[in-house]
Amino acid sequence: MTVESPKEAPVKFPSPLVRELRGARHVAVLTGAGISAESGIPTFRDAMTGLWAKFRPEDLATPEAFRRDPRRVWEWYEWRRELVARARPNPGHLALVELARRVPRMDLFTQNVDGLHQRAGSRDVLELHGNITRDRCFDNDHPADPGSRSEETPPRCRRCGSFMRPDVVWFGERLPERELEAAWESAARCDLFLSVGTSGAVQPVASLVDLARHGGATVVIVNPDASVFSARDRIVLQGPSGRILPALLAETWPERRSSP
Ligand code: OAD
Repeated sequence: MTVESPKEAPVKFPSPLVRELRGARHVAVLTGAGISAESGIPTFRDAMTGLWAKFRPEDLATPEAFRRDPRRVWEWYEWRRELVARARPNPGHLALVELARRVPRMDLFTQNVDGLHQRAGSRDVLELHGNITRDRCFDNDHPADPGSRSEETPPRCRRCGSFMRPDVVWFGERLPERELEAAWESAARCDLFLSVGTSGAVQPVASLVDLARHGGATVVIVNPDASVFSARDRIVLQGPSGRILPALLAETWPERRSSP
């Protein structure tokens, strides 16, 4: 079932979805770059504006790229950090903060490294691909020394002298165990799985949706791009998350309009 959200019309949601969400015990939410698009942060694969449409991942987001040219990789991440610092959470992020208040259990796991969920007020966010605002050293994962940063580019680790790198997951690297296991458990046991703003192009995160389906959860996809959806997706909310998510909460909990 696909719900399209043309810009001007109010979004109407299938009543089964509204009922399921209102009665949900455990909602698992997976987000991708799309939820931050309305905050002005480029996604990766959107044809014209995506980062991977302009740069090659293998040149910038792999350990080999960093070994080859640490300065170039570090400077690309500094450019992305500035974008993130200027960005603000959008209504999509804020709607997920509200959703967490409305259901008995909500787990939020994100592929995004921008920290916007936390800045919106979400707690216990599981960052499956790390966080661009943190650094660690390349050789030993020593965290950055908050006090000072060496003058070099990239800066050097105060403890072992190796280059610092952003604390994000690069292609070919393992995801953080604790976060991934928690996301696995949540997807397998939830009764409603909300996938927001992800192309589902990168494993192992992309498998979480199938895990939720096999666990019997209702899967809801929020994305303006119809090509992301598969026939198995029961409920597709086609539109930008900054518009869809607040409207979904308003329809599911109309009383919220009166309460703060
Ligand atoms: P992608 O760029 O692959 O996909 C972004 C998705 O967001 C697309 O399907 C868009 O249609 C959708 N989108 C765009 N604007 C939107 C909006 N306003 N509301 C909702 N959806 C919108 O980004 P991810 O799926 O997050 O990993 O990519 C997953 C991983 O691949 C990233 O974490 C990154 C990337 O390479 C690494 O670099 C390891």
